[in-house]
Amino acid sequence: MKYGFVLGRVYTLSVAELIAILEKPDPSLVAAQFRGQTGEVAHDENVKILEASEEILIIETPAALNVDKLQKKLGGIVKILEIVDVIKKREQDSINFALKHYFKPGILKKQFFKEYKGKIQFGLSIYILNMDLLKRPEPDPRHKFQSFNSIFSEPKRIGMIIKNGLTESQISARLVLPEFSSLSLASVVVTKNLLLQKGAEINILAAKDKIFTAKTLSVQDFEDYGRRDYQRPVRDEKQGMIPPKVAQVMLNLANCKNGDTILDPFCGIGTIIQEGLLLGYKMIGSDINRVAIKGSEQNLEWFRNRYKIAPGRYGLEVSDATGVSDLIAKSKHKISAIVTEGTLGPIYSQYPKNEEIAKNFKDLGKLYKKSFMEFSKFLPAKARIVMCVLAYRRGKGNYETFPSLDFAAGLGYTLVDLIPPSVANKLKFLKLTERKTAIYDRKDQVVAREIVIFEKV
Ligand SMILES: C[S@@+](CC[C@H](N)C(=O)[O-])C[C@H]1O[C@@H](n2cnc3c(N)ncnc32)[C@H](O)[C@@H]1O
Repeated sequence: MKYGFVLGRVYTLSVAELIAILEKPDPSLVAAQFRGQTGEVAHDENVKILEASEEILIIETPAALNVDKLQKKLGGIVKILEIVDVIKKREQDSINFALKHYFKPGILKKQFFKEYKGKIQFGLSIYILNMDLLKRPEPDPRHKFQSFNSIFSEPKRIGMIIKNGLTESQISARLVLPEFSSLSLASVVVTKNLLLQKGAEINILAAKDKIFTAKTLSVQDFEDYGRRDYQRPVRDEKQGMIPPKVAQVMLNLANCKNGDTILDPFCGIGTIIQEGLLLGYKMIGSDINRVAIKGSEQNLEWFRNRYKIAPGRYGLEVSDATGVSDLIAKSKHKISAIVTEGTLGPIYSQYPKNEEIAKNFKDLGKLYKKSFMEFSKFLPAKARIVMCVLAYRRGKGNYETFPSLDFAAGLGYTLVDLIPPSVANKLKFLKLTERKTAIYDRKDQVVAREIVIFEKV
Protein backbone atom coordinates (compact mmCIF):
# COMPACT_ATOMS: atom_id res chain seq x y z
CA MET A 1 0.00 0.00 0.00
CA LYS A 2 1.26 3.47 -0.81
CA TYR A 3 0.46 6.52 1.29
CA GLY A 4 1.37 10.19 1.18
CA PHE A 5 1.96 11.91 4.52
CA VAL A 6 1.72 15.70 4.30
CA LEU A 7 4.23 17.14 6.76
CA GLY A 8 3.65 19.95 9.24
CA ARG A 9 5.48 23.29 9.33
CA VAL A 10 8.44 21.90 11.32
CA TYR A 11 8.82 19.05 8.86
CA THR A 12 11.97 17.54 10.40
CA LEU A 13 9.98 16.78 13.55
CA SER A 14 7.11 15.41 11.45
CA VAL A 15 9.48 12.98 9.71
CA ALA A 16 11.09 11.94 13.03
CA GLU A 17 7.69 11.20 14.53
CA LEU A 18 6.36 9.32 11.51
CA ILE A 19 9.40 7.08 11.22
CA ALA A 20 9.38 6.38 14.98
CA ILE A 21 5.74 5.27 14.84
CA LEU A 22 5.77 3.31 11.59
CA GLU A 23 8.92 1.40 12.44
CA LYS A 24 7.48 0.15 15.70
CA PRO A 25 5.24 -2.86 15.03
CA ASP A 26 1.83 -1.90 16.41
CA PRO A 27 -1.06 -4.12 15.28
CA SER A 28 -3.64 -1.50 16.22
CA LEU A 29 -2.30 0.80 13.48
CA VAL A 30 -2.91 -1.80 10.80
CA ALA A 31 -6.34 -2.05 9.16
CA ALA A 32 -8.39 -4.92 10.56
CA GLN A 33 -8.38 -7.05 7.40
CA PHE A 34 -4.59 -7.29 7.54
CA ARG A 35 -4.37 -8.47 11.13
CA GLY A 36 -3.97 -12.15 11.94
CA GLN A 37 -6.33 -13.94 14.31
CA THR A 38 -4.21 -13.12 17.35
CA GLY A 39 -3.93 -9.50 16.31
CA GLU A 40 -0.41 -9.70 14.92
CA VAL A 41 0.51 -7.79 11.79
CA ALA A 42 0.39 -10.09 8.79
CA HIS A 43 3.59 -8.73 7.26
CA ASP A 44 6.40 -7.20 9.21
CA GLU A 45 8.77 -5.80 6.63
CA ASN A 46 9.88 -2.27 7.31
CA VAL A 47 8.22 0.73 5.77
CA LYS A 48 9.83 1.97 2.57
CA ILE A 49 10.16 5.67 1.72
CA LEU A 50 9.52 6.01 -2.02
CA GLU A 51 9.75 9.78 -2.43
CA ALA A 52 10.22 12.66 -0.05
CA SER A 53 10.36 16.41 0.10
CA GLU A 54 9.87 18.98 2.83
CA GLU A 55 6.15 18.93 1.98
CA ILE A 56 5.34 15.25 1.76
CA LEU A 57 6.65 11.72 2.26
CA ILE A 58 5.42 8.85 0.09
CA ILE A 59 5.68 5.57 1.95
CA GLU A 60 5.01 1.97 0.99
CA THR A 61 3.77 -0.25 3.78
CA PRO A 62 3.30 -4.02 3.68
CA ALA A 63 -0.27 -3.76 5.01
CA ALA A 64 -3.09 -1.22 4.90
CA LEU A 65 -2.92 1.28 7.76
CA ASN A 66 -5.62 2.25 10.19
CA VAL A 67 -5.56 5.79 8.87
CA ASP A 68 -8.05 7.39 11.29
CA LYS A 69 -6.15 6.12 14.30
CA LEU A 70 -2.81 7.14 12.83
CA GLN A 71 -4.06 10.64 12.00
CA LYS A 72 -5.22 11.19 15.60
CA LYS A 73 -1.91 9.91 16.93
CA LEU A 74 0.48 11.97 14.80
CA GLY A 75 0.87 15.60 15.86
CA GLY A 76 3.20 16.37 12.94
CA ILE A 77 1.13 15.04 10.03
CA VAL A 78 -1.38 17.37 8.40
CA LYS A 79 -3.03 14.97 5.93
CA ILE A 80 -2.83 11.30 4.99
CA LEU A 81 -3.36 10.45 1.31
CA GLU A 82 -3.81 7.23 -0.56
CA ILE A 83 -1.68 7.03 -3.70
CA VAL A 84 -3.88 6.14 -6.67
CA ASP A 85 -1.57 6.14 -9.71
CA VAL A 86 1.88 7.05 -10.97
CA ILE A 87 2.11 8.83 -14.31
CA LYS A 88 5.31 9.37 -16.27
CA LYS A 89 6.10 12.94 -17.22
CA ARG A 90 8.71 14.49 -19.49
CA GLU A 91 10.75 17.08 -17.63
CA GLN A 92 9.77 19.89 -19.99
CA ASP A 93 6.04 19.21 -19.73
CA SER A 94 3.82 21.20 -17.43
CA ILE A 95 1.85 19.24 -14.86
CA ASN A 96 -1.51 19.88 -16.49
CA PHE A 97 -0.15 18.81 -19.89
CA ALA A 98 1.05 15.50 -18.41
CA LEU A 99 -2.40 14.94 -16.92
CA LYS A 100 -4.38 15.98 -19.98
CA HIS A 101 -5.60 12.47 -20.76
CA TYR A 102 -5.57 11.02 -17.26
CA PHE A 103 -8.76 12.27 -15.59
CA LYS A 104 -11.19 10.30 -17.76
CA PRO A 105 -14.72 9.83 -16.41
CA GLY A 106 -13.95 6.15 -15.70
CA ILE A 107 -10.94 6.94 -13.47
CA LEU A 108 -12.78 9.74 -11.72
CA LYS A 109 -15.74 7.52 -10.86
CA LYS A 110 -13.70 4.46 -9.93
CA GLN A 111 -10.85 6.04 -8.03
CA PHE A 112 -12.01 9.33 -6.62
CA PHE A 113 -15.78 9.65 -6.43
CA LYS A 114 -17.17 6.15 -6.18
CA GLU A 115 -19.11 6.68 -2.92
CA TYR A 116 -20.88 9.89 -3.83
CA LYS A 117 -24.20 10.84 -5.33
CA GLY A 118 -25.68 14.23 -6.13
CA LYS A 119 -23.62 17.41 -6.45
CA ILE A 120 -19.97 16.84 -5.72
CA GLN A 121 -17.62 19.19 -3.89
CA PHE A 122 -14.04 18.57 -4.78
CA GLY A 123 -10.74 20.23 -4.08
CA LEU A 124 -7.41 20.21 -5.84
CA SER A 125 -4.00 20.36 -4.20
CA ILE A 126 -0.50 20.08 -5.59
CA TYR A 127 2.44 18.96 -3.47
CA ILE A 128 5.95 19.30 -4.79
CA LEU A 129 8.37 16.39 -4.58
CA ASN A 130 11.18 18.18 -6.36
CA MET A 131 11.66 21.76 -5.24
CA ASP A 132 13.29 22.69 -8.59
CA LEU A 133 9.77 22.71 -9.99
CA LEU A 134 9.16 25.93 -8.06
CA LYS A 135 12.03 27.71 -9.80
CA ARG A 136 11.30 30.11 -12.60
CA PRO A 137 12.85 28.83 -15.84
CA GLU A 138 15.83 30.68 -17.35
CA PRO A 139 14.57 33.23 -19.95
CA ASP A 140 15.03 32.19 -23.56
CA PRO A 141 16.94 35.00 -25.34
CA ARG A 142 15.42 34.05 -28.70
CA HIS A 143 12.00 35.28 -27.65
CA LYS A 144 11.36 38.86 -26.72
CA PHE A 145 8.02 38.39 -24.98
CA GLN A 146 7.59 35.34 -22.87
CA SER A 147 4.84 34.51 -20.47
CA PHE A 148 5.95 32.39 -17.54
CA ASN A 149 3.34 29.77 -17.04
CA SER A 150 3.50 29.87 -13.27
CA ILE A 151 3.05 26.64 -11.39
CA PHE A 152 0.53 28.53 -9.23
CA SER A 153 -1.94 28.47 -12.10
CA GLU A 154 -1.76 24.67 -12.27
CA PRO A 155 -4.38 23.84 -9.59
CA LYS A 156 -7.00 25.79 -11.57
CA ARG A 157 -6.00 24.23 -14.89
CA ILE A 158 -6.07 20.69 -13.49
CA GLY A 159 -9.25 21.40 -11.55
CA MET A 160 -10.91 22.41 -14.82
CA ILE A 161 -9.72 19.20 -16.56
CA ILE A 162 -11.38 17.21 -13.77
CA LYS A 163 -14.51 19.31 -13.81
CA ASN A 164 -14.83 18.73 -17.56
CA GLY A 165 -14.39 14.99 -17.01
CA LEU A 166 -17.22 15.07 -14.48
CA THR A 167 -19.44 17.13 -16.76
CA GLU A 168 -18.96 14.51 -19.47
CA SER A 169 -20.51 12.01 -17.05
CA GLN A 170 -23.34 14.44 -16.23
CA ILE A 171 -22.05 14.95 -12.71
CA SER A 172 -22.34 18.47 -11.40
CA ALA A 173 -19.48 19.59 -9.22
CA ARG A 174 -18.13 22.55 -7.27
CA LEU A 175 -14.38 23.05 -7.35
CA VAL A 176 -12.47 24.36 -4.30
CA LEU A 177 -9.04 25.79 -5.11
CA PRO A 178 -6.06 26.80 -2.97
CA GLU A 179 -5.64 30.47 -2.12
CA PHE A 180 -3.70 32.67 -4.50
CA SER A 181 0.07 31.89 -4.24
CA SER A 182 -0.54 28.57 -2.56
CA LEU A 183 -0.62 25.16 -4.22
CA SER A 184 -2.51 23.14 -1.65
CA LEU A 185 -5.64 23.40 0.43
CA ALA A 186 -5.25 23.94 4.17
CA SER A 187 -6.85 21.18 6.27
CA VAL A 188 -9.32 23.74 7.61
CA VAL A 189 -10.57 24.36 4.05
CA VAL A 190 -10.90 20.63 3.37
CA THR A 191 -12.90 20.21 6.58
CA LYS A 192 -15.10 23.32 6.28
CA ASN A 193 -16.07 22.48 2.69
CA LEU A 194 -16.88 18.87 3.66
CA LEU A 195 -14.70 17.69 0.79
CA LEU A 196 -14.12 14.23 2.26
CA GLN A 197 -17.84 13.74 2.92
CA LYS A 198 -19.30 15.28 -0.24
CA GLY A 199 -16.65 14.52 -2.83
CA ALA A 200 -12.88 14.35 -2.57
CA GLU A 201 -9.65 16.23 -2.34
CA ILE A 202 -7.58 15.17 -5.33
CA ASN A 203 -3.84 15.59 -4.89
CA ILE A 204 -1.16 15.85 -7.51
CA LEU A 205 2.29 14.99 -6.15
CA ALA A 206 4.74 16.33 -8.66
CA ALA A 207 8.30 15.18 -9.27
CA LYS A 208 10.40 16.14 -12.31
CA ASP A 209 9.79 12.94 -14.24
CA LYS A 210 6.60 11.60 -12.72
CA ILE A 211 3.37 12.53 -11.05
CA PHE A 212 1.53 10.63 -8.35
CA THR A 213 -2.20 11.12 -8.13
CA ALA A 214 -3.66 10.68 -4.67
CA LYS A 215 -6.88 10.95 -2.74
CA THR A 216 -7.05 12.45 0.75
CA LEU A 217 -8.11 9.90 3.37
CA SER A 218 -7.93 12.12 6.44
CA VAL A 219 -6.91 15.58 7.63
CA GLN A 220 -5.69 16.77 11.00
CA ASP A 221 -8.51 17.81 13.32
CA PHE A 222 -7.43 21.44 13.72
CA GLU A 223 -10.51 22.29 15.79
CA ASP A 224 -9.76 19.65 18.36
CA TYR A 225 -6.12 20.73 18.69
CA GLY A 226 -7.36 24.29 19.20
CA ARG A 227 -9.75 23.11 21.92
CA ARG A 228 -7.02 21.13 23.67
CA ASP A 229 -4.89 24.27 23.71
CA TYR A 230 -7.19 27.29 24.10
CA GLN A 231 -10.29 25.97 25.81
CA ARG A 232 -8.47 24.72 28.90
CA PRO A 233 -9.61 26.47 32.06
CA VAL A 234 -6.03 27.52 32.95
CA ARG A 235 -3.32 28.87 30.67
CA ASP A 236 0.09 30.24 31.59
CA GLU A 237 1.40 32.75 29.06
CA LYS A 238 4.24 33.74 31.41
CA GLN A 239 5.97 30.36 31.71
CA GLY A 240 4.84 29.32 28.26
CA MET A 241 3.05 26.16 27.20
CA ILE A 242 4.07 23.65 24.65
CA PRO A 243 1.58 23.29 21.75
CA PRO A 244 -0.37 20.01 22.05
CA LYS A 245 0.88 18.86 18.61
CA VAL A 246 4.52 19.20 19.69
CA ALA A 247 3.77 17.40 22.96
CA GLN A 248 2.31 14.55 20.90
CA VAL A 249 5.37 14.38 18.65
CA MET A 250 7.66 14.18 21.70
CA LEU A 251 5.55 11.44 23.29
CA ASN A 252 5.69 9.50 20.05
CA LEU A 253 9.50 9.68 20.16
CA ALA A 254 9.63 8.12 23.64
CA ASN A 255 9.45 4.55 22.34
CA CYS A 256 6.78 3.46 24.86
CA LYS A 257 4.00 0.88 24.77
CA ASN A 258 0.33 1.46 25.42
CA GLY A 259 -0.26 1.50 29.21
CA ASP A 260 3.35 2.46 30.14
CA THR A 261 3.85 5.23 32.68
CA ILE A 262 5.56 8.43 31.54
CA LEU A 263 6.82 11.20 33.82
CA ASP A 264 6.89 14.95 33.11
CA PRO A 265 8.93 16.49 35.96
CA PHE A 266 8.48 20.10 34.69
CA CYS A 267 4.80 19.68 33.87
CA GLY A 268 3.58 23.30 34.19
CA ILE A 269 -0.17 23.33 33.48
CA GLY A 270 -0.11 19.79 32.13
CA THR A 271 -0.01 19.83 28.30
CA ILE A 272 2.26 16.78 28.01
CA ILE A 273 0.20 14.98 30.66
CA GLN A 274 -3.07 15.46 28.76
CA GLU A 275 -1.59 14.44 25.42
CA GLY A 276 0.02 11.35 27.00
CA LEU A 277 -3.35 10.29 28.42
CA LEU A 278 -4.96 10.66 25.01
CA LEU A 279 -2.26 8.43 23.50
CA GLY A 280 -3.02 5.69 26.05
CA TYR A 281 -0.24 6.16 28.63
CA LYS A 282 -0.43 6.57 32.39
CA MET A 283 1.08 9.91 33.32
CA ILE A 284 2.79 11.44 36.34
CA GLY A 285 3.33 15.19 36.40
CA SER A 286 5.34 17.23 38.87
CA ASP A 287 6.43 20.83 39.06
CA ILE A 288 8.20 22.95 41.65
CA ASN A 289 5.46 25.54 41.44
CA ARG A 290 2.33 24.86 43.49
CA VAL A 291 0.25 27.21 41.30
CA ALA A 292 1.27 25.28 38.17
CA ILE A 293 0.18 22.00 39.78
CA LYS A 294 -3.16 23.58 40.77
CA GLY A 295 -3.52 24.66 37.11
CA SER A 296 -2.69 21.15 35.93
CA GLU A 297 -5.30 19.70 38.28
CA GLN A 298 -8.00 22.00 36.94
CA ASN A 299 -6.99 21.43 33.33
CA LEU A 300 -6.89 17.67 33.67
CA GLU A 301 -10.24 17.56 35.42
CA TRP A 302 -11.70 19.39 32.39
CA PHE A 303 -9.72 17.23 29.96
CA ARG A 304 -10.68 13.97 31.66
CA ASN A 305 -14.39 14.77 31.35
CA ARG A 306 -14.11 16.07 27.81
CA TYR A 307 -12.12 13.08 26.54
CA LYS A 308 -13.56 10.35 28.82
CA ILE A 309 -10.36 9.43 30.60
CA ALA A 310 -10.45 7.32 33.77
CA PRO A 311 -9.47 9.30 36.88
CA GLY A 312 -6.81 6.85 38.11
CA ARG A 313 -4.59 7.21 35.04
CA TYR A 314 -2.58 10.20 36.20
CA GLY A 315 -0.99 11.70 39.29
CA LEU A 316 0.16 15.28 39.96
CA GLU A 317 2.46 16.44 42.76
CA VAL A 318 4.50 19.47 43.75
CA SER A 319 8.17 18.49 43.55
CA ASP A 320 11.53 19.88 42.54
CA ALA A 321 12.77 17.85 39.55
CA THR A 322 16.07 17.44 41.37
CA GLY A 323 14.30 15.51 44.14
CA VAL A 324 11.58 13.73 42.16
CA SER A 325 12.78 10.18 42.95
CA ASP A 326 11.02 10.27 46.36
CA LEU A 327 7.75 10.93 44.63
CA ILE A 328 8.30 8.07 42.17
CA ALA A 329 9.23 5.66 44.98
CA LYS A 330 6.04 6.64 46.84
CA SER A 331 3.86 6.21 43.75
CA LYS A 332 5.20 2.65 43.20
CA HIS A 333 5.03 3.28 39.44
CA LYS A 334 7.65 1.94 37.10
CA ILE A 335 8.58 4.89 34.88
CA SER A 336 9.17 3.87 31.25
CA ALA A 337 10.22 7.28 29.94
CA ILE A 338 10.45 10.98 30.71
CA VAL A 339 8.91 13.46 28.28
CA THR A 340 9.29 17.04 29.34
CA GLU A 341 9.74 20.66 28.43
CA GLY A 342 12.46 21.60 30.89
CA THR A 343 12.15 25.13 32.15
CA LEU A 344 13.39 27.54 29.45
CA GLY A 345 14.51 30.46 31.65
CA PRO A 346 13.36 34.06 31.10
CA ILE A 347 11.09 34.88 28.16
CA TYR A 348 12.42 37.66 25.88
CA SER A 349 10.74 39.87 23.32
CA GLN A 350 14.12 40.92 21.89
CA TYR A 351 17.28 38.93 21.33
CA PRO A 352 19.18 39.01 24.67
CA LYS A 353 22.79 40.02 25.20
CA ASN A 354 25.47 37.35 24.83
CA GLU A 355 26.36 37.49 28.54
CA GLU A 356 22.74 36.90 29.44
CA ILE A 357 22.53 33.93 27.08
CA ALA A 358 25.72 32.45 28.53
CA LYS A 359 24.38 32.86 32.07
CA ASN A 360 21.03 31.26 31.20
CA PHE A 361 22.71 28.25 29.58
CA LYS A 362 25.01 27.89 32.61
CA ASP A 363 22.19 28.08 35.17
CA LEU A 364 19.95 25.70 33.27
CA GLY A 365 22.84 23.32 32.58
CA LYS A 366 23.28 22.99 36.34
CA LEU A 367 19.57 22.32 36.89
CA TYR A 368 19.38 19.82 34.03
CA LYS A 369 22.49 18.00 35.32
CA LYS A 370 21.11 17.65 38.85
CA SER A 371 17.78 16.50 37.41
CA PHE A 372 19.40 13.90 35.16
CA MET A 373 21.34 12.53 38.16
CA GLU A 374 18.03 12.22 39.96
CA PHE A 375 16.33 10.50 36.98
CA SER A 376 19.09 7.84 36.98
CA LYS A 377 17.77 6.63 40.32
CA PHE A 378 14.57 5.22 38.84
CA LEU A 379 14.84 5.02 35.04
CA PRO A 380 15.42 1.49 33.72
CA ALA A 381 18.08 0.73 31.07
CA LYS A 382 17.05 1.80 27.53
CA ALA A 383 14.46 4.25 28.89
CA ARG A 384 14.31 7.50 26.96
CA ILE A 385 14.25 11.11 28.04
CA VAL A 386 12.65 13.25 25.33
CA MET A 387 13.14 16.85 26.29
CA CYS A 388 12.92 20.43 25.01
CA VAL A 389 16.02 22.32 26.02
CA LEU A 390 16.54 26.03 25.66
CA ALA A 391 17.67 27.56 22.36
CA TYR A 392 17.50 31.13 21.04
CA ARG A 393 16.31 32.16 17.60
CA ARG A 394 18.48 34.82 16.00
CA GLY A 395 16.65 34.69 12.70
CA LYS A 396 15.27 32.20 10.22
CA GLY A 397 17.26 28.96 10.55
CA ASN A 398 19.80 30.70 12.80
CA TYR A 399 19.95 29.60 16.43
CA GLU A 400 22.10 29.75 19.52
CA THR A 401 21.88 26.31 21.08
CA PHE A 402 23.16 24.87 24.34
CA PRO A 403 26.97 24.98 24.10
CA SER A 404 27.10 21.29 24.92
CA LEU A 405 24.73 18.64 26.14
CA ASP A 406 27.34 17.47 28.62
CA PHE A 407 24.90 17.90 31.50
CA ALA A 408 23.88 14.32 30.70
CA ALA A 409 27.37 13.06 29.90
CA GLY A 410 29.09 10.83 32.40
CA LEU A 411 25.72 10.02 33.95
CA GLY A 412 25.05 6.98 31.79
CA TYR A 413 22.97 8.56 29.01
CA THR A 414 23.61 8.58 25.27
CA LEU A 415 22.22 11.12 22.86
CA VAL A 416 20.00 9.39 20.28
CA ASP A 417 19.71 10.67 16.69
CA LEU A 418 16.26 12.16 16.23
CA ILE A 419 15.98 10.40 12.87
CA PRO A 420 17.83 7.11 12.22
CA PRO A 421 20.96 7.79 10.10
CA SER A 422 19.74 5.32 7.45
CA VAL A 423 16.82 7.71 6.77
CA ALA A 424 18.47 11.04 7.59
CA ASN A 425 21.35 10.42 5.16
CA LYS A 426 18.89 10.05 2.28
CA LEU A 427 16.60 12.96 3.09
CA LYS A 428 18.96 15.86 2.54
CA PHE A 429 16.28 18.49 3.07
CA LEU A 430 15.91 17.70 6.77
CA LYS A 431 17.00 20.43 9.16
CA LEU A 432 18.99 18.63 11.81
CA THR A 433 21.54 20.30 14.05
CA GLU A 434 25.13 19.07 14.01
CA ARG A 435 24.31 16.85 16.96
CA LYS A 436 21.30 15.41 15.07
CA THR A 437 18.61 17.09 17.15
CA ALA A 438 15.98 19.49 15.75
CA ILE A 439 14.67 22.92 16.67
CA TYR A 440 11.03 23.82 17.17
CA ASP A 441 10.62 27.57 16.86
CA ARG A 442 8.13 30.25 15.97
CA LYS A 443 9.05 33.31 14.06
CA ASP A 444 7.48 35.62 16.63
CA GLN A 445 9.41 34.10 19.56
CA VAL A 446 13.07 34.54 20.59
CA VAL A 447 13.02 31.53 22.90
CA ALA A 448 13.07 28.34 20.85
CA ARG A 449 13.18 24.68 21.83
CA GLU A 450 15.74 22.09 20.86
CA ILE A 451 14.22 18.62 20.93
CA VAL A 452 16.70 16.09 22.26
CA ILE A 453 16.45 12.38 22.99
CA PHE A 454 18.65 10.64 25.54
CA GLU A 455 18.69 6.95 26.24
CA LYS A 456 19.76 5.45 29.53
CA VAL A 457 22.58 2.99 28.96
C1 LIG B 1 8.14 25.85 30.24
S1 LIG B 1 7.25 25.41 31.64
C2 LIG B 1 6.50 23.89 31.23
C3 LIG B 1 5.20 24.10 30.56
C4 LIG B 1 4.49 22.82 30.23
N1 LIG B 1 5.17 22.02 29.26
C5 LIG B 1 3.08 23.14 29.76
O1 LIG B 1 2.80 23.05 28.54
O2 LIG B 1 2.26 23.55 30.55
C6 LIG B 1 8.50 24.93 32.75
C7 LIG B 1 8.04 24.57 34.14
O3 LIG B 1 9.19 24.15 34.90
C8 LIG B 1 8.90 24.45 36.26
N2 LIG B 1 10.18 24.39 37.00
C9 LIG B 1 11.18 25.30 37.07
N3 LIG B 1 12.18 24.84 37.84
C10 LIG B 1 11.81 23.62 38.27
C11 LIG B 1 12.42 22.63 39.08
N4 LIG B 1 13.61 22.82 39.63
N5 LIG B 1 11.75 21.48 39.29
C12 LIG B 1 10.53 21.28 38.76
N6 LIG B 1 9.90 22.18 37.99
C13 LIG B 1 10.53 23.33 37.74
C14 LIG B 1 8.25 25.81 36.20
O4 LIG B 1 7.47 26.03 37.36
C15 LIG B 1 7.40 25.69 34.92
O5 LIG B 1 6.08 25.36 35.24
